[in-house]
Amino acid sequence: MCGIIGYIGDRQACEVIVKGLKRLEYRGYDSAGIVTEEGGRLYIKKGAGRIDELAEKLGFLEMPGKRGIGHTRWATHGIPNDINAHPQTDCTGKIALVHNGIIENYRELREELLKRGHRFDSDTDTEVIAHLIEEELKSGGSFEEAMRRALLRLKGSLALGIIYTEEPDRLYFVRNESPLVLGIGEGENFAASDVPAFLEYTNRVVFLDDREYAVLTKDSWTVKNLDTGERIEKSVHKIEWSLEMAEKAGYPHFMLKEIHEQPKAIRDALHGNAEIIHSVAEEIAKYDRIFIVAMGTSYHAGLVGKYLFQRLARKVPIVEDASEFRYELEDVIDENTLVIAITQSGETADTLAAMKLAKRKGAKVLAIVNVVGSMATRIADFTLYTHAGPEIGVAATKTYTTQLTVLTMLALELARVLGTADQGYLEELEMGLKAVPELVESVLKHETSLRELAEGLKNKRDFFYIGRGISVPTALEGALKLKEISYIHAEGLSAGELKHGPLALLEDGVPVVAIAPSGRTFDKVVSNIEESKARGAYIISVGDRAELMRVSDVFLEMPRMDELLTPIVYVVPLQILAYHLAVLRGNDPDKPRNLAKSVTVE
Ligand code: F6R
Repeated sequence: MCGIIGYIGDRQACEVIVKGLKRLEYRGYDSAGIVTEEGGRLYIKKGAGRIDELAEKLGFLEMPGKRGIGHTRWATHGIPNDINAHPQTDCTGKIALVHNGIIENYRELREELLKRGHRFDSDTDTEVIAHLIEEELKSGGSFEEAMRRALLRLKGSLALGIIYTEEPDRLYFVRNESPLVLGIGEGENFAASDVPAFLEYTNRVVFLDDREYAVLTKDSWTVKNLDTGERIEKSVHKIEWSLEMAEKAGYPHFMLKEIHEQPKAIRDALHGNAEIIHSVAEEIAKYDRIFIVAMGTSYHAGLVGKYLFQRLARKVPIVEDASEFRYELEDVIDENTLVIAITQSGETADTLAAMKLAKRKGAKVLAIVNVVGSMATRIADFTLYTHAGPEIGVAATKTYTTQLTVLTMLALELARVLGTADQGYLEELEMGLKAVPELVESVLKHETSLRELAEGLKNKRDFFYIGRGISVPTALEGALKLKEISYIHAEGLSAGELKHGPLALLEDGVPVVAIAPSGRTFDKVVSNIEESKARGAYIISVGDRAELMRVSDVFLEMPRMDELLTPIVYVVPLQILAYHLAVLRGNDPDKPRNLAKSVTVE
């Protein structure tokens, strides 16, 4: 995900663009750049880093000109650095553009353009577009026609902002599968990935649809069909939301927005890894000694990974908290070891230290990471991305379920490579995995009842989360979500552990959340529920079997699915419950006390 903004009018373009970029920072923040034009000359400033730092370091606000475009990046092709930041330009330096999306056929186009003598400066897929338009311009006709011909050759998703020095009065914006909206002002016009970027100046907007492009001048806006070049009539809508609401797409907090983004994030994780997963599985198949290292929520994902690997691929990884691994396991790591590091940010100090140690001892390191180009990806021998997009809320939600998606894909493929599971079953499981986004969508519909449940629980002092087998990590993660944002004490544990101590803490009304999907240990969990109920506990069960109703005070019914897929879906109601408990207790779930999004110190 990236953010783009464009302006044409009588204001200093850079001021409008910098403000807009800050409002789009939730879409990506690893690098940013701006191009403005004055007197037939383009002014470009760009670099890796966050907008505020770059604005100061590069002097974004000193750029001349009354038209321009800006970009805040979340890297997909090419690591975040100064050269890969947008805008990207053609060889003549007359065309500059910014892009949100992925050009799938950029490699072939790049090869072709290189043969025709084009010089490329960056590793991005975006730069291809600028050179392709330059090439089409050589065949004559207007810039608009050349741009359209070039764009028709691209496969993939895009939202583009384009500026051309030879046409001083206009900007072009194109949309196909990435969001783009026009802001219609008086004697000025705007375009952006999202309304908040310009809502301060106008609330009159035109939503572009796929395969449409817009030509903006100071006083006019025209929308055309990308395939035919014909003009399209569009209506202007009036936005009634406040700026704050708009930034969070109408959700009161980023955490809730990110919880609701999970179906899309999981789909992106599935698509984004479909091609690469086989080669990674083949590499992993060579190792018998596997460690999984991570912290916090990512550690819980690692625990799910262990169950998946052992059930499907008959490999039993050792899952270690990275802060322990780095001091305890040095002597058992060698070149026959594979270390899988899981980290959303790719910057967690303990996880990086564990990875470096593993490399020093000759082990192979696979990273499962969300932030492209982060430190973890540079240390690792190979990386799988979770493709969840930026996560702003401190509590991990969509990055957890996408980590689980990637681990499930990996275990499945590993089982295929090793022949450790029935092929028919693996196919069924794969189909089931592809249906998980819809299952998550159906669970998200229970939000109102979860909020009501939270009402009745908001004054509780302690919570227990129990599960067995692959549901143990779900219990741990449910408890972690609750403590970190609601500040209620919570423990997650294997249901079998209850009678070895914790049962002593159960008394009238203490909530016990039981994760109880159909599967190997369903009956055992029901017994644990009954023994908790006998001590007066208030039972909230999460499962797919109606008989849970008999033993529960509240039954959260989940759709049916293979037990191995339940960690991705069953955690969702626990995230929502934690969220509402936090809000009802007056906490800001996006910024829990004492915690930071990425823990870069030991
Ligand atoms: C909890 C949470 C943390 C992180 C942990 C590791 O909601 O977000 O527990 O999971 O700090 O962070 P990453 O995954 O960035 O290494």
